[in-house]
Amino acid sequence: MFNLNDIIRPNVLKMKAYSSARDEFKGSASIFLDANENNLGSLAGEKYNRYPDPHQKKLKARIAEIKGVQPEQIFLGNGSDEAIDLLFRMVCRPGQDSMLHLPPTYGMYEVSANLNEVALQAVQLTGEYQIPVEEVLLNVKPTTKIIFICSPNNPTGNLIETESIEDILRAFNGLVVVDEAYIDFADARSWTSRLQEFPNLVVLQTFSKAWGMAGLRLGLAFASKDIISVLDKIKPPYNINEATQELALQALERGEALKDMIEEIVQERELLLEALPDLPAVEHVYASDANFILVKVTDPNGMYNYLLDKGIVVRNRSSLPGCEGCLRISVGTLEENQRLLQAIAEFK
Ligand SMILES: Cc1ncc(COP(=O)(O)O)c(C=O)c1O
Repeated sequence: MFNLNDIIRPNVLKMKAYSSARDEFKGSASIFLDANENNLGSLAGEKYNRYPDPHQKKLKARIAEIKGVQPEQIFLGNGSDEAIDLLFRMVCRPGQDSMLHLPPTYGMYEVSANLNEVALQAVQLTGEYQIPVEEVLLNVKPTTKIIFICSPNNPTGNLIETESIEDILRAFNGLVVVDEAYIDFADARSWTSRLQEFPNLVVLQTFSKAWGMAGLRLGLAFASKDIISVLDKIKPPYNINEATQELALQALERGEALKDMIEEIVQERELLLEALPDLPAVEHVYASDANFILVKVTDPNGMYNYLLDKGIVVRNRSSLPGCEGCLRISVGTLEENQRLLQAIAEFK
C-alpha cells in the first residue's frame, strides 16, 4: 500500500514553509512596505519591482481548467527540471535512498540524483525501447523511492506502453514519475487523467516544447493534492517570476495557435520520417511520438561534425548505451528540414 507519509523525508515532514510577506498580508492596501522592494519603480518595466504571486493562483486556475484537474493538483516549477530536483529532495534521504530510471533516457534524472546524493539504479529499456517490467520490479529495494518513466521517451522518441506503467504504478509503493514533456506531439491521452486512480503518480509536463516557451522556464507537475502541497512547501517562495506568469497566462488563451503549431511540427516530423530512410548514410530511423527523431547513421561522429560544418547542430547520442550510432534530430521549420535532408543526402 502506498502511503505518502511513509516516504517523505522526516525533515521535510517536520519543517514549515517560508512565510513570505505576500503570505502574511492578505487584505488590500495602497502602500506596501513589507517586502523590502524598490517602491520607486523598476528599471525593467512597470510592476517588476514587486515580488510575484508565490502561489501562482491565476495561472494555476487557468491551467486547471484547460487540463481538467484541480488547481491543488498542480505544482509549477522553474522548468520541469526544478520539479525533478524537488521530488528528490521531498522523498530521498541523501546517502540512503535510491531512484530507478530507464536508460537511454533524459539525463537530468541522473544529474539531479547525483546532486542530491541519491543512489542510481538503472534498468535498460528493451530493444524496442519499452520497459522490462519484471526486471524493474525485481530491482526495487526498500530504499527505492522514485521510478522515472519518460513517455514519449527522450532520446528515443517513443511512447511507453500503458500497461507497463500501470503495472509499475500498482506494484511499486514509491513515486512513479511519468515525464510527459513531449506528450503534445503524441497521439495519446495524458496520464493526468489517471491521477485519481493512482495516489503515487506524478506527471511532469512543460511549456518548453509544444508551447514554445523554453526561454521562460515553466514546468508542471500534476499529482495528488497531498503530494503537491509538500512540493509547494519546499519550493523557493518566488520560483515563477512575474514575466513568466503573465506571458504564460496570455499564451494559455491561444489554444488554437498551439494546435496549429503542433500540427505543423507533427506534419514536418512525418515528412522527415518518410524522407530520412532513403538517404544512403541513414541505417535506421526510429518511429517518433515527439518533436525529434532518433536516427542511426553509418558514421555518427563523422556525420555530426559534417553537419556542424554546414551550420547544422544536432545531438550526438551515439555514445549512450542503447543509442549506438544514433543522432537525435529536432524537427525544425520546413526550410530547416529541407536543408538538413539535403546535407545528409550529400554526406560521403
Ligand atoms: C524528457 C524531458 N523532461 C524534462 C525536460 C526539461 O524541461 P524544462 O525545460 O521544463 O526544464 C526536458 C528537456 O529537454 C526533457 O527532454
